[in-house]
Amino acid sequence: MPVITNIADLKRRYKRRVPKMFYDYCESGSWTEQTFRANTTDFERIRLRQRVAVDMTGRSTASQMIGQDVAMPVALAPVGLTGMQSADGEIKAARAAAKFGVPFTLSTMSICSIEDVAKATQAPFWFQLYTMKDMDFTKRLIDRAKAAECSALVITLDLQILGQRHQDLKNGLSAPPKLTLPVIADLATKWQWGLEILSTTRRQFGNIVGHVDGISDTSSLGAWTAEQFDPRLDWDHVKRLMDMWGGKVVLKGILDPEDAEMAAKTGADALVVSNHGGRQLDGALSSIEALPGIVEAVGDKIDVWMDSGIRSGQDVLKALALGAKGTMVGRSFVYGLGAMGQEGVTKALEILHKELDTTMALCGRQNVSQLNRDNLLLPPDFGKTHV
Ligand code: GLV
Repeated sequence: MPVITNIADLKRRYKRRVPKMFYDYCESGSWTEQTFRANTTDFERIRLRQRVAVDMTGRSTASQMIGQDVAMPVALAPVGLTGMQSADGEIKAARAAAKFGVPFTLSTMSICSIEDVAKATQAPFWFQLYTMKDMDFTKRLIDRAKAAECSALVITLDLQILGQRHQDLKNGLSAPPKLTLPVIADLATKWQWGLEILSTTRRQFGNIVGHVDGISDTSSLGAWTAEQFDPRLDWDHVKRLMDMWGGKVVLKGILDPEDAEMAAKTGADALVVSNHGGRQLDGALSSIEALPGIVEAVGDKIDVWMDSGIRSGQDVLKALALGAKGTMVGRSFVYGLGAMGQEGVTKALEILHKELDTTMALCGRQNVSQLNRDNLLLPPDFGKTHV
């Protein structure tokens, strides 16, 4: 087996091990995928300033996210269907995150339920909420997250309806997969994954199946979102959800400074500049390009984080230098999970940490709080695309 030294290595191994349907679910964006691509290519437009003859001893990447100590300002983002990438994947990822000292966020659309993850882990995790038309169900999700002692509620604002994801439609994405001929042919080459998945009982949307009545199709993300997600979500509703929760709140999916102003007014603890990994509005700005405008608008009122496109510790450093107080990674940890289970998530975190630490040192900084725009060389038009 080739030695794994970076996130791209994990992705290659992940692709060989996991059924195409779930690899594609993770790896594609919506429509033409231009925003999905820009999320990573825009990071490459930012150059780092190399500094020399600076004492590099005693470096630390340690920081805080919403008052919680973290080994580095990188949280595992909520990712739907994580338990289809590896059996009991959410539990594995939560355990790896806790051991490493970074937060794990459980998606509403996870395979392992809130209760499963709480039972199998010690450290508190964060719960990501999608709001459903059925307000009772939404309320029950919040109560379940409270009962599990989740330490923050991450409310996703950019997915009241699902972006058009051609690859998922073509693949007939569902959990568990429906055994069509192409799926069977693909599974024949992914038998290790198949054996693992057969060894667990968790193969459906764990937060939903068994918790709602009279739903016609819980196996398909597309059908579920179309039937159940609440298209009426507005800022008043966000406030009501925050009151119901009563604890720390992170608002995820902000891409515009005007929305960031609204988010800051809610009194939430942090907002995440995000285009949902390029999976929602294709043609929107990359997250890293949207970040400077949002930091400028609300950076003194609320902690601004970012996700979408981070594939290295260098990317994390660039986001922090542009004013983010924290970052979230989705695909980078899913590649590790699909490639090597819990060990792969740990590997992904180790890679990001090592890259962040080394880059920070070569930029002449000893800790993450010292990072700022002086560490970067930006193209003149960078982040200036706002109205
Ligand atoms: C769900 O959150 C998705 O992006 O698929």
